[in-house]
Amino acid sequence: MSLSSEIALRRTFAIVSHPDAGKTTLTEKFLWYGKVIREAGHVRAKANKSYTVSDWMKIEQQRGISVSSSVLNFPFEGCYFNLVDTPGHQDFCEDTYRALTAVDAALVLIDSVNGVEKQTVKLMDVCRMRHTPIITFINKMDLDGRDVLDLLDEIEKILQIQTCPFTLPIGYGKLFKGVYSIADNTFNTFSKEDGKQEILQMSGADDPKLVELCGEEYIKEFKNRYDVATQAMDPFDREKYLTGKQCPVFFGSAVNNFGVRQLLNAFANIAPPPAPRESDTRVVEPTENAFSAFIFKIQANMDPRHRDRTAFLRICSGSFERGNKVLHCRTGREIRLAAPTSFLAQDKEVIDKAYAGDIVGINDPGIFNIGDTLTEGEKFKFSGIPDFAPEFFARVTLLNPLKSKQLGKGLAQLSEEGATQLFSALSSAFPVIGVVGELQFDVLKHRLENEYGAEVQLDKISVFCARWISGEQKRQEDFAKEYKGDCLQDKHGSLVCLFPNEYRLNLAVKNYSELGFSKVS
Ligand code: G4P
Repeated sequence: MSLSSEIALRRTFAIVSHPDAGKTTLTEKFLWYGKVIREAGHVRAKANKSYTVSDWMKIEQQRGISVSSSVLNFPFEGCYFNLVDTPGHQDFCEDTYRALTAVDAALVLIDSVNGVEKQTVKLMDVCRMRHTPIITFINKMDLDGRDVLDLLDEIEKILQIQTCPFTLPIGYGKLFKGVYSIADNTFNTFSKEDGKQEILQMSGADDPKLVELCGEEYIKEFKNRYDVATQAMDPFDREKYLTGKQCPVFFGSAVNNFGVRQLLNAFANIAPPPAPRESDTRVVEPTENAFSAFIFKIQANMDPRHRDRTAFLRICSGSFERGNKVLHCRTGREIRLAAPTSFLAQDKEVIDKAYAGDIVGINDPGIFNIGDTLTEGEKFKFSGIPDFAPEFFARVTLLNPLKSKQLGKGLAQLSEEGATQLFSALSSAFPVIGVVGELQFDVLKHRLENEYGAEVQLDKISVFCARWISGEQKRQEDFAKEYKGDCLQDKHGSLVCLFPNEYRLNLAVKNYSELGFSKVS
């Protein structure tokens, strides 16, 4: 197959949703359709462990939240899907933002009972900023959820995107009868009792068979929705979808594996193949022969038995074969991609070849940073991978002084993953860490203890805001002297000041007006 045909089959997307909307359940069903797992729920039950396929970290299970975004690759209907799972919890938003830079489309999952929830609104803001094409799946139709037209209205108003229902539910809750597909006039029946699903061809929404199957009352309600969807709402417009202005909407129930196949079909048919990417020198087309990629995520100790570190690459152009040498643009070093891996649930598999659009893992011997570009020789840097300023800070105290080497290693490695930032204080020997969401503190503490054997105490520092100080060296030194107690150095040696209140900030800005006070490094 030619390079461009291979690339045209790639679909790379992320699922974004509020915690508990059913993302893990839906992901499992996807893997089942991709024949990656034999039985949905199978992995969950394995060896009596309560993990699900996309849960990697123990803390995630303990607290019942999704804290690390993982990557899964699976085939479906001739297409090759790369799914980037994202943490739903707000304290991990920077991980999610970065994941969204690596995908070409997103699936927004909404709980039919709760409607549009807070975290979805935030994540949608990022999608909108990036003009990411969105498909929406309204889940849990087997529960007594909200009125369908109300839900569509809420999506339009709160998420600010035009909706275009591809299917419409008939009945809901205990009396949920199935979904009607508007484009091909089929009725997909639902039965919770025996799990049986049938796809029945109808002549149209007026087909009397629908009344026989579902009862007059439900069809009346359905017809009303159907008329609104087909007469009062704009028809599907692929251009609008591709620019993030309109989203196809599907209804179903992940746990009952209902409506999931239609959703995957829609991804195969209408979601975009890999898009061109901007770099600091030019736009890179996916079908260019020369390989290029960027790193959007680094994760240490995915397999605690092997103390590994994995860098996740989004391939942006061309292809590569195992063993190829590539240029690490930031350092100018040549690197051999010895064992690129794809991810199947808990398992990794070494792959021989990957194409633009694919997301693969490579072993990181400690040389990669998030945002690094790899190419076949040309020097450039992909743009648009955001940096995040930490909002919460804590002083790290090691509880067992004999473990200081382990602590140093753990702090350095975990900060390279990008979720925490490491600082040294000017006035004390205790390291300081900064995070975007407070829950990251718990994760860091847990991981330092479990992965590095270093038990620590974290003392939060009360901070109004952090500012990176720039400007003439001598003035910076004066500033550092005056504000020594509040000053830190980041990993590049840049000066950072943690202002305890607005007054101190304003005063510093006034007294050192020739210095820059920036929110990010
Ligand atoms: P998340 O990853 O988005 O956080 O959600 P997850 O899949 O873990 O699902 C959250 C809960 O919602 C789970 O129940 C799950 O079984 C349930 N769920 C998912 N899809 C549907 C659906 O279509 N209908 C109904 N009724 N429930 C659904 P749980 O009780 O928290 O966990 P579990 O014991 O069932 O695993």
